Amino acid sequence: MESAIDWHTAKALLEWQVELGATEAIGDAPVDRFAEAEAAAQAAAAAQEAPVATPQSAGARTDPVAEAEAAARGAADLDALRAALAAYPHCALKQGARSLVFADGRAGARVMIVGEAPGREEDLEGRPFVGRAGRLLDRMLAAIGLDRAAAAPEGSVYITNVLPWRPPRNREPTAEETAMMLPFLRRHIALAAPEVLVVMGNSSAQALLGRRGITRLRGQWDEALGLPALPMLHPAYLLRNPHARRMAWEDMLTLAARLEGA
Ligand code: URA
Repeated sequence: MESAIDWHTAKALLEWQVELGATEAIGDAPVDRFAEAEAAAQAAAAAQEAPVATPQSAGARTDPVAEAEAAARGAADLDALRAALAAYPHCALKQGARSLVFADGRAGARVMIVGEAPGREEDLEGRPFVGRAGRLLDRMLAAIGLDRAAAAPEGSVYITNVLPWRPPRNREPTAEETAMMLPFLRRHIALAAPEVLVVMGNSSAQALLGRRGITRLRGQWDEALGLPALPMLHPAYLLRNPHARRMAWEDMLTLAARLEGA
């Protein structure tokens, strides 16, 4: 049955109950504790008879980043990459998310925007930048004649995020999550093959440029994965700091000038 609350909320509620002293979950149906004890004894006996793991299998460790690299490398196109991400088991965010938020817009567009991670609305809809920040982003793009829904690659953009799953309470991606998702992001960019990248916000700058400080980096062309990359203020930051919109407008003009001149 589909639950009305998400995984992280359910976990937080459970932890709160434990803190209050709850030690047992009482269900609607009666529980036969005698049968449970007997089953546990049988399971323990079976475990004693089971073969002991060899040192090799016991010591075998998975390397989530190496596995991500192999999975991403094996993806021949964007559909395969989405499937590889969906099958990737090591990122715990997946458990708490409703959707894998892969991309939106037109693959093959000249501009590819890389944001941070899906928020609540993106998680519900399964598309990046569809909430308030996304609507502001759409208006900023429209101001220089770009539209994610445009059919022609010249007028369109392709949009993705560093993380494809929503972090709980919209917290920033951790270094570990970013490291796991980076091989997929790199492959995503290679397969989408844009002419320029827009690095939207600090998490994207950290992942693609290896440094933070977006208010210093913004508006100056850099390079990421061999492509020209323009760091910009994140639209969520602009919602909180309307005075910074003038800088964002300058950055959009910088992007437009590049597209016109190229
Ligand atoms: N913020 C992001 O960075 N990405 C989204 O998809 C939505 C909000």
